[in-house]
Amino acid sequence: MNILRKMPVENVLERSRQNTLKRRLSAISLAGFGVGVIIGTGIFTLVGVEAKQHAGPAVVVSFVVAGVVAALAALCYAELASAVPTAGSAYTYAFATLGELFAWIIGWDLLLEFALGAAVVSRSWSGYVANLLHLPPEWFGEQATVNIGAVLIIAVLTVVAVAGIRESSRLTNALVVIKVSVCVLIVVAGLFFARGANLDPFVPPAQPAEATASVVDQPLIQALAGLEQSAFGFGGVLTAAAVVFFAYTGFEALANLGEETKEPKRDLPRGLLGSLAICTVLYVAVALVLTAVVDYRKIDEGAPIAAAFQSAGAPWVGALVGLGAITGLTSVMMVELVTLGRIGFAMSRDGLLPRRLSEVHPRWRTPHRMTIAIAVLIMLLAGFVPIAELADMVSIGALSGFLIVALAVPVLRRRNPELERPFRVPLSPVLPVITAAACLYLMANLDVFTWLRFGVWLALGLLIYLFYGRRHSVLAMRTEAKGDVKGGASGD
Ligand code: ALA
Repeated sequence: MNILRKMPVENVLERSRQNTLKRRLSAISLAGFGVGVIIGTGIFTLVGVEAKQHAGPAVVVSFVVAGVVAALAALCYAELASAVPTAGSAYTYAFATLGELFAWIIGWDLLLEFALGAAVVSRSWSGYVANLLHLPPEWFGEQATVNIGAVLIIAVLTVVAVAGIRESSRLTNALVVIKVSVCVLIVVAGLFFARGANLDPFVPPAQPAEATASVVDQPLIQALAGLEQSAFGFGGVLTAAAVVFFAYTGFEALANLGEETKEPKRDLPRGLLGSLAICTVLYVAVALVLTAVVDYRKIDEGAPIAAAFQSAGAPWVGALVGLGAITGLTSVMMVELVTLGRIGFAMSRDGLLPRRLSEVHPRWRTPHRMTIAIAVLIMLLAGFVPIAELADMVSIGALSGFLIVALAVPVLRRRNPELERPFRVPLSPVLPVITAAACLYLMANLDVFTWLRFGVWLALGLLIYLFYGRRHSVLAMRTEAKGDVKGGASGD
């Protein structure tokens, strides 16, 4: 059996042809949807955690760096999504270009990204609820021993996801308006409460790491270069960039809408880049305001922005921000839970995960087993693991997925030059290779412990693939069946 066997692009196109969706989305509606899925914990919570732990006010620069890498990855996504429109997205592109093993890795990464992403957002939600309603810190927010708030919200939303209640597009639009308005409110209110002194020093000088820090807490790149372990400084800005990359994840969801877009060639890249541009501007402005309103050393890690305005003497701004964050974060978790079901569905349809897992509930028509199994894992993580550590894992998972997507662009051009490509990445293969290198560089700025955990996750994935997926793969069975008909067996 060949672990690098590829799914013919024609199969993917055939599947999507059977799925006749209405082309009704424009670049503007795509950008609106994109902003709706992108804005979340990254800007409401991680911004504070990273300013306090790694970058100081220069977290602003971290957001710019992460935004540029996300935009490069978005271009690669746009080409693949417009050429091979499919609900399986990156997982399917990898299947068609790099082969089954890479497809499995990317699918496994996506499960990590969205499952841990939901855990991160639930903790952020819990922090803002605690701040707004003055709930006990032992159960809610980042100081909690067991974050009951985060566990509860995942439990409630899982019931909603299993019952198949999808957000209507009207509700999604309303949530986008709320999230963007809250960001604008933060920026405008910030003008009145900002203090220049808080931005000085803009890049806090590198300091020796705390005595308790060990080598696994050091960014991989520093550990490999044998550098003295330190916090803040230029290295801190890059570490923060790698972590806040989390804030841009989610735009991949747009890549699944290629078949529903009126003019994919024109509108898909516009929608993708447009939503990233809007988010980058909002993120940079909000990060600047937060670090200008409060000294980065005094930032509250549970509900940073609300707490910053409270301490600056504007509790009503804090309350409004809190309400907006709670509403906005709920929709992010909902999208993540539903997306998890779809990815798992695509993987088990190809035989790489047990089919029983993706069986659709007879009444609710949702992959209930898959959703509940993953939700239990999310609740365990959300209950016990700090937000920064979970976000590191999401970033490394997302970046490694984007790296594979970037490499898939030139590979697909070579393998299927005749394929119609409504959108083409300019300067391929140079730009895709730069994108892959940028993703790898950001990954190298994450700490050694994150790499170790990611290694364990991949090893676990490989074991499942070797002992289950490889044997049950639908593609393998088809190839073998064809081989039998011709009278020859396919080799290993
Ligand atoms: N980009 C999303 C967020 O920041 C996942 O919450």
